[in-house]
Amino acid sequence: MGSHQSPAADTTTWLTPPELIDAIGVFDLDPCAAPSPRPWPTAMRHIELPVDGLAADWARDRVWLNPPYGAQTSAWLAKLADHPAGGVALVFARTETAGFVREVWQKATGVLFLHGRLHFHRADGTRAASNSGAPSCLVAYGHWAAVALRDSGLDGTFVPLHNVHSASLVLEGAAA
Ligand SMILES: C[S@@+](CC[C@H](N)C(=O)[O-])C[C@H]1O[C@@H](n2cnc3c(N)ncnc32)[C@H](O)[C@@H]1O
Repeated sequence: MGSHQSPAADTTTWLTPPELIDAIGVFDLDPCAAPSPRPWPTAMRHIELPVDGLAADWARDRVWLNPPYGAQTSAWLAKLADHPAGGVALVFARTETAGFVREVWQKATGVLFLHGRLHFHRADGTRAASNSGAPSCLVAYGHWAAVALRDSGLDGTFVPLHNVHSASLVLEGAAA
């Protein structure tokens, strides 16, 4: 969570508000899904601990990524940025950090900065009373992902980026 306003600091399982994912679309894979039984699906396929989703093969799945918080967040974003099928990540809008510069500003195809602050959900699905304590943004990797964020209708400001997601272009070109 973002700061001292975190509802709790003793868990890394803070679930994405389901309406957020519903607004963006259907994803093939969540590689760091909440432990079963999870209150709602976040994708067609889930990888959960003890399987390491960071080391796993993401195949050609379109990925939903709300990664574990902390130092490891950048490694998850780096894997998504290199992932041929692309995806969307939900992260804190810490736009000045080295990780954000390297993995978002220099690699993403667009960012939707959410207005207001999110209320994440606990593992049992209940909504946290406190907000996340920091601003959040959705990050697109791949052309389709940028379009999905732009057209999501979510309350935020979409910023297109001109990075070339070359692996994704190869796939989208092959499908055309
Ligand atoms: C912030 S929560 C997000 C949960 C879910 N992806 C969502 O969007 O609601 C991050 C989740 O990553 C899981 N996780 C942490 N490290 C992982 C790993 N190496 N492989 C798979 N899942 C992991 C945790 O169990 C936790 O539930």
